[in-house]
Amino acid sequence: MTQKKLARGVAVVGAGMSKFGSFKDLSSRDLFVQAFQEMKESLTHPLDTDRIEAFYLGNFSSDQFEKQAHLAPIVASWIGLTPVASTRMEDACASGAAAIRQAVMAIASGLCDVVLVGGVEKMTDLPITEVTEALATAADTLFEIPPGFTFPGFYAAMATAYMHEFNAPMEAFARVSIKNHVNGGLNDKAQFGKSIPDIMASKKARAVQKGRPEPTWETEMDFLTDPRGNPMIAWPMSLYDCSPVSDGAACALLVAEELAGEFNDTPLYIIGSGQASDGALTDRSSLSHIPAAVEAAGKAYQMAGLTPDDIDFAEVHDCFTIAEIMASEDLGFFGRGEGWKAAMEGKTARDGEHPINTSGGLKSKGHPVGASGVGQLIEVWKQLRGTAGERQLPGNPRIGLTHNVGGSGQTCVVHIFERRE
Ligand code: COA
Repeated sequence: MTQKKLARGVAVVGAGMSKFGSFKDLSSRDLFVQAFQEMKESLTHPLDTDRIEAFYLGNFSSDQFEKQAHLAPIVASWIGLTPVASTRMEDACASGAAAIRQAVMAIASGLCDVVLVGGVEKMTDLPITEVTEALATAADTLFEIPPGFTFPGFYAAMATAYMHEFNAPMEAFARVSIKNHVNGGLNDKAQFGKSIPDIMASKKARAVQKGRPEPTWETEMDFLTDPRGNPMIAWPMSLYDCSPVSDGAACALLVAEELAGEFNDTPLYIIGSGQASDGALTDRSSLSHIPAAVEAAGKAYQMAGLTPDDIDFAEVHDCFTIAEIMASEDLGFFGRGEGWKAAMEGKTARDGEHPINTSGGLKSKGHPVGASGVGQLIEVWKQLRGTAGERQLPGNPRIGLTHNVGGSGQTCVVHIFERRE
């Protein structure tokens, strides 16, 4: 099916996020206030909130995590936005990008000119067993959960299939983690804002302080192959292959293209948007890629009139390291079975031919599930406008892509952003 173009252009004129991490004393609404404040500060011209006509909030499950459903109007009221129409978007871990897409459609249709989008999740109030159980409700409870799957298990199954099909070694997964921790180490908003060598050094210091023998790890691979440093979670996915449990919020202001200059002198433009769905893992003929991602990316490329080689960098959904490798193929950056080699060869590093997850990705930056899709937009906002600080990509990037996956691949949303100045 041919992908139609947007009937009206959409610009991003402001973006901000809270720090991602574990914040015992902050609720979803408090975290969202931080993101909203930073978004307002990113505008060139002061925001008159009366101009906001709708609010879409990505949130997977505040009802389970905080015993608070119906979050969008509650957050809207907390930031002084009521009576603006406020809607919570729930598409599992892709809730944030689904909220962005909803805002794009509201503006492109002509219904609204100015729309606030956000994402938020507050996951750390529950013990890990209950977090795991809550996340599992994003899977198919008829076909996927009864056999005993949890999310690390889903991606472990995909990793096993990928290793079998393409003869990939576990080291390729470790290389994704090492790279994302290097990038996250340069991001002050990241939950684990440290490189693996820095993590090793602090673990060694802690052992000495506690009077225990100092670990003898010398290289990152020594640490990542030692179960005392990096315990197995669901083979072949170990701790450092998993994104963490996180709290955090992100926020952006989207407006009709012709109004962008009234809000910001250096806006970005959304030139591609694609979304696709799929059934449970049991419905799929192959587990070594995510068909909904291929479909969503195809639609976004078609709308933008671009190919994978036109993309200067991408923020992809690395909820587990295998997911980043599959994404690098599903998005067309590398051929099938080539993504693991690209990861090993540094092709996805900041100085590589296809930089991926310059923010640190979900692995290092954190994964407050409903916020992650909007969090990806924040990195695009920084990189394309040259404000990413120490992790700024060279070469004045002009086109950025985000790839946000829900469940075990039942939803995927891809957006393509452009800088025109
Ligand atoms: N990567 C690296 N280190 C991690 C980590 C991660 N993902 N998660 C926790 N840690 C560290 C903690 O900082 C802590 O370190 P310290 O001992 O130096 O202080 C240590 O590991 C233990 O932390 P804890 O919070 O007790 O871990 P946990 O066992 O409760 O949780 C996982 C670990 C992997 C089970 C959890 O992070 C998880 O479930 N991740 C996947 C989340 C998910 O499925 N999201 C949806 C994806 S679609």
